[in-house]
Amino acid sequence: MLLRSDVLSGLAVFAAIGLAVQSDLNREVAHVAVDHPAPEAVSFATDVMPILEQYCWECHSEESAELGLKLDTYEAVMAGSDYGTVIEPGDADGSLMIDMIANGDMPDGGDPVPPEQLEVLKTWVNEGAENN
Ligand code: HEC
Repeated sequence: MLLRSDVLSGLAVFAAIGLAVQSDLNREVAHVAVDHPAPEAVSFATDVMPILEQYCWECHSEESAELGLKLDTYEAVMAGSDYGTVIEPGDADGSLMIDMIANGDMPDGGDPVPPEQLEVLKTWVNEGAENN
């Protein structure tokens, strides 16, 4: 039969192992954080705007706004088209603008938006579609 003190020292050993594992994990997390600093948030002005300019302004800007959709200012992007909004902040998959690029519907002719750039737009929307 086990003595009470054996049980207690058994528990102590367990607890010690637990702490050792825990502190190893903490060190690992700290290590990863240093090696891979969190990426900067995607910026509307510096990351998103140039993509819209290159692929969309021809038909969605001050001069020519198909369906009333202008993509040349933050306010215009968020205002959407004559039919409504095309961006759902925080939800790229639910955003018409993203959906139409992903489906290949937009741009309407010309070079498609490359996957890396579509990813930038998606990330911006998923991060809250901020005017940053
Ligand atoms: C060559 C012209 C042209 C270019 C370039 C273009 N579009 Fe369009 N876009 C249109 C036309 C025409 C329509 C309306 C007919 C349609 O939906 O196909 C439209 C409609 C849309 C709509 C639908 C709006 C609604 O409420 O139904 C979205 C969203 C859109 N475009 C986004 C974009 C984005 C984003 C780009 C750039 C990646 C882009 N478009 C590039 C011509 C263009």
